[in-house]
Amino acid sequence: MHLDPDDEKILAGEQGETRQKMLELLIALGKVFGAERLVGIRSAQVSGASYKTIGEYGLAWLSSLDARAVVPAVLNPIGMPRERWQEMGVEPEFAERQRAVIAAYDRLGVNLECTCTPYYLHETSFGDHLAWSESSAVSYANSVIGARTNREGGPGALAAALVGKTPYYGLHLEKNRNPQVIIEVVSGDKEWSIAHYGALGYHAGKIVGNKIPFIRGIIPTTDQLKALGAAMAATGAVALYHVKDVTPEAKKHRINLSALEVISIEPAEIDSLFTEIPVEAVAVGCPHCSPAELANIAQLLQGKIITKPFYVFAAQGVIDTNQKTVDAIEKSGARVFADTCMVVSPVMEQYSGIMVNSGKALAYVPDMCGAVARIGTIEDCVKEATS
Ligand code: F3S
Repeated sequence: MHLDPDDEKILAGEQGETRQKMLELLIALGKVFGAERLVGIRSAQVSGASYKTIGEYGLAWLSSLDARAVVPAVLNPIGMPRERWQEMGVEPEFAERQRAVIAAYDRLGVNLECTCTPYYLHETSFGDHLAWSESSAVSYANSVIGARTNREGGPGALAAALVGKTPYYGLHLEKNRNPQVIIEVVSGDKEWSIAHYGALGYHAGKIVGNKIPFIRGIIPTTDQLKALGAAMAATGAVALYHVKDVTPEAKKHRINLSALEVISIEPAEIDSLFTEIPVEAVAVGCPHCSPAELANIAQLLQGKIITKPFYVFAAQGVIDTNQKTVDAIEKSGARVFADTCMVVSPVMEQYSGIMVNSGKALAYVPDMCGAVARIGTIEDCVKEATS
């Protein structure tokens, strides 16, 4: 692999042992995937931050590192809100270990925002090279923004944050971003909600696996794209998709599609995912809520009081800049938590049935929380939590 003079200095240990080891890791990764060089990144998003997933071994490894991030870097959601963990019902023993993980990342210069929506916090633009970990964030960056990132593992993203570069392969290369299959969506007469796009992604991800789909027949908003991509990345391994006339790279692929397989999805296939099973709690914000989603929830909850636990998840930075909206939501008894989510927090394991408005949560809640999951629109979620 070609290394520039700065890389050579790091590799020679001139910037400390941690940075040297991190560069060795990036070079090893690059060699596996045939990268000819490294590329500078604008930001990193690092998974492996929840104590629930990394445990003592991961914490010991993080604590052994000694360097500082050289590009803006944030964490993936952790097992609890940093501030309001007691209010969420997190056990003190878990909180103590989770705080140790956070302290280790703090020492490494990683911003302690723990979110799967880093694009709401750090400006991310078309063509930017990134090293992001969380699958829905990767999908959004590649597909909706037109930035370029592979789906990094936690150590790879952390290494990229500490070195400022990532191996130049996969979705960083223009030639690997072309559609590989066409999805023709028959959306019917009904107007689709965010949950419908989540359900579409849930269904489509199972069909396309890890291929890059070119989707026709829908005109989603950015929040709907967020839901669609998150679910396709959960049930499949879709890190990039294009939507005709909507996503930034779709235009250039309009020609050249004739040889691709076309898969049709009918409205009945989406509607069949909306079941009516009983639930004990409602959880929304997967991926973490945008300001517009928070405003919509606040409006729907106006004048209502919840009758069962209602969790809303969003990035701390988004909560801070929309505090009045958050206060309006919490007036109903619902809680808006930062840093965590219905999938990574151990608190959600107490419920046997959870209602969500997300195709990704529909896919992950059963295995990660041991609960039955039901998908509904945000209107249905509010109705369930307040009736
Ligand atoms: Fe984000 Fe948790 Fe969903 S990390 S995408 S809210 S599973």
